[in-house]
Amino acid sequence: MKKVILLTLVCGSIIAASSVSSCKKSDSTVTMTLYDSLGGTAMVADPAASGTMIEKGRLGLRSVVDSTIFVIAADTALNNKFFAVLLSEVGASNLTGFNTLSKNLTDFFCVATGAKNFTYGGKTMVAAHDPSQNSRMGTKASSADFDQFVTDLVTGATKCGLSSQLIGQVGVVVNSVKSQVVQK
Ligand code: HEM
Repeated sequence: MKKVILLTLVCGSIIAASSVSSCKKSDSTVTMTLYDSLGGTAMVADPAASGTMIEKGRLGLRSVVDSTIFVIAADTALNNKFFAVLLSEVGASNLTGFNTLSKNLTDFFCVATGAKNFTYGGKTMVAAHDPSQNSRMGTKASSADFDQFVTDLVTGATKCGLSSQLIGQVGVVVNSVKSQVVQK
């Protein structure tokens, strides 16, 4: 029940975020990034922090990230095998690692989808997914693990109301790092 409430909160605002588009014009060409399609730089109230504003594109991506983390937390094919450190922290009501992971994943997706106002400051994709360089990564991931991760991401994005067309575009970003994440 707790999980359902959290997921509802996380996803509450993404349907609106994903339905608005904006375009950037330079000379006669129009460039529309995936970030723009998710709502771009339009500022909206941040439902997670009252009184603060957030870019609509970032809010959409953060919602998908957080929703996906909850899907993975319930997925016995991935949860304890890879995310035991994170899950034991969350089980003890320590959200520090969760918040860092959410921020870094959100920054990563913002940059990868065309945001201009954020930078990714986490580990490289190779280091983040190599247990010898990241003690929070339970073990090396296989191609099948990666595909399961993508399945969970699609579930998380669908719960947030993202269209299948936008999910497909997020999938292109995710698949572009497969060779760095899969290390066995
Ligand atoms: C088989 C698939 C995958 C597995 C099992 C996996 C697992 C993990 C784990 C265990 C962590 C550390 C979590 C923690 O901080 O407690 C992590 C971090 C991270 N992962 Fe993945 N991951 C997978 C795929 C991906 C993909 C496809 C992306 C990007 C598109 C990604 C991006 C990241 C990022 C940005 C971090 C944070 C790195 C940092 O904080 O420095 N991962 N991943």
